[in-house]
Amino acid sequence: MRLREALSRRAEWASTLSIMAAVGALACQPGGAPGAPSVGGGLAQLMQERELTESDVMAALKTYTPTGKLDEYYLFASGGHSGQVLVIGLPSMRLLKVIGVFTPEPWQGYGYGGDSGALFDAGEKHGRKMRWGDTHHPALSETGGDYDGEYLFINDKNSARIAVIDLRDFETTQIVTSSLIENDHGGTFVTPNTEYVIEGPQYPAPLGGGYADIADYAEKYRGAVILWRFNRETGKIEPDKSFAIELPPYMQDLSDAGKLASDGWIFLNSFNTERATGGTAEGKPPLESGASQNDMDYMHIINWRRAEEMVAEGKTKQIGGLPVIPLDAAAGDCLWFVGEPKSPHGLDVTPDGKELVVAGKLDTHATVYSFEKIKGLIDAKKFVGNDDYGVPILPFEESIRGQAELGLGPLHTQYDGAGNAYTSLFIESKVVKWSVKDLKVLEKIPVHYNVGHIVAAEGDTVSPDGRFLVSLNKWAIDRFMKVGPLLPQNFQLIDIGDGSETMQLLYDMPIGIGEPHYAQIVKADKLNPKEVFEPIGYNPRTRAKDPNAATSGEERIERRPDGVHVWMTAVRSRFTPDLIRVKEGDTVHLHVTNVEQAKDATHGFGIGSHNVNLSLEPGEHENVTFVADDPGVYPFYCTEFCSALHLEMAGYLLVEPNE
Ligand code: CUA
Repeated sequence: MRLREALSRRAEWASTLSIMAAVGALACQPGGAPGAPSVGGGLAQLMQERELTESDVMAALKTYTPTGKLDEYYLFASGGHSGQVLVIGLPSMRLLKVIGVFTPEPWQGYGYGGDSGALFDAGEKHGRKMRWGDTHHPALSETGGDYDGEYLFINDKNSARIAVIDLRDFETTQIVTSSLIENDHGGTFVTPNTEYVIEGPQYPAPLGGGYADIADYAEKYRGAVILWRFNRETGKIEPDKSFAIELPPYMQDLSDAGKLASDGWIFLNSFNTERATGGTAEGKPPLESGASQNDMDYMHIINWRRAEEMVAEGKTKQIGGLPVIPLDAAAGDCLWFVGEPKSPHGLDVTPDGKELVVAGKLDTHATVYSFEKIKGLIDAKKFVGNDDYGVPILPFEESIRGQAELGLGPLHTQYDGAGNAYTSLFIESKVVKWSVKDLKVLEKIPVHYNVGHIVAAEGDTVSPDGRFLVSLNKWAIDRFMKVGPLLPQNFQLIDIGDGSETMQLLYDMPIGIGEPHYAQIVKADKLNPKEVFEPIGYNPRTRAKDPNAATSGEERIERRPDGVHVWMTAVRSRFTPDLIRVKEGDTVHLHVTNVEQAKDATHGFGIGSHNVNLSLEPGEHENVTFVADDPGVYPFYCTEFCSALHLEMAGYLLVEPNE
């Protein structure tokens, strides 16, 4: 069906183009057919004026989405060190939303005084309030290894935190962290039924925090992979049902969960098995050269169902608020290694779960591991030895099916539904399409440039769609108008069709915020986002009607022992009450409810000089508490253009001085 659709689509385009070209040619001829449609002449002329080739026009036809027409896919991309998540429609590449996650976002009233403050507080590290994050790898929730469109998870590499986004309202609803690890990278990824959201570490440090000299790196520094238990009903990660596994002080990297044939297992890459620590000012080689000595690093193979049993058997110790399976217990019971060449980066399980593709960024190959072989070697206890921490190492040659020679700097792999893999080549600045079965290169397409991750439509699930692939490139040096030395990133949309066709570059989309690392593309019809919040008074952070929801006709101001409480409603075009009188030093608790249910009736609520801004979408409730410690007159107003009388939607906070 997919093939036929794609072919007929392609045929349609071809015939449309040839008709247009024919009409254009006709209309362009001097003395051409009288009454020839002017659109044809217009097209040919436009193509000439704008110096567009037929292939440009073909690309435009594949991406142009007329007003009112909806996209077929959502692309969720990390926003890098903006700390946010980008929501983009495909194939139009229109930016729909930047979801506030680890960084405050004023339009959404996120992190400016409302209930989202509690999310940020939950993400404190070492008692410090963090107000940015480095988002890397978004993961959509899965059922049976396929995206189900319910939740999105994303990590903050900088401070080892995980956020949950509810795709019913595109709001961040939870940030979790622990003091176990200081930094993460191999995450987020989910087990096939989203039992766990997994956070793999990167730069080792003493587990649980605390000091140890770098000279004690091999003995006292560690990594740990955290399996955060996810409760689909509540939409929350449950830290008290989560656990971790201690890992050696290698730098664990990208990771993936097994599925179908390999369900129950997770796989983490690593580099710096040399355990280099840098020390350039202390007469030692830099970390990067120290970390690139070994020909092989270790893929970490973890049986997470066995790890679950070990937790139930009490084979853990409590570190950083989590039960942790110690390395000596994990080794050979739920944790094994196999070599991977050399300084590997991407690790991507094939759609059938039977094989794992590892790209070595300093190697020209992708290595294809067989899960069946790996499992057989583990069951037969066939090892070539142990590492320094007692973890058994599987024989490399017997664990793989083969290697595909791909090119320079292979990084990340995605799949289509036709048995092809697509791997980014960082050094070549290309995407290579190759056959998983034959390990043969089929085609390469140049991308511009510095490609990191690539993402195909549902390309890391059990049933990839093919059709579209996006290359996530860094630093677009000559693609766009100049905006100073800090260069935009470039998302390039590529048509991969049904896998049988030549790849075609369709569209360049500059990204003007932090470096987007990974992204996922999901069919739009899998999501069912709300249009308004129901019931009225709904608090998206708690996912329930707020106990302090205000009702029309029952708005009030009450002085209580803990301060002045204001139950306020917002409706086009007024706040009730609109005068708030307090005394200097009062703690003020505002409970503001947008009591409207019309789809576009969003209000904002900003108070001058108090760093407060709320977004009150239809039906939404927000609570905000502040101390009115500076006597004065502070206007507050609606920050959304909600109606003709939007400017009149305002009021005053009157802070009367103490005598
Ligand atoms: Cu309500 Cu502007």
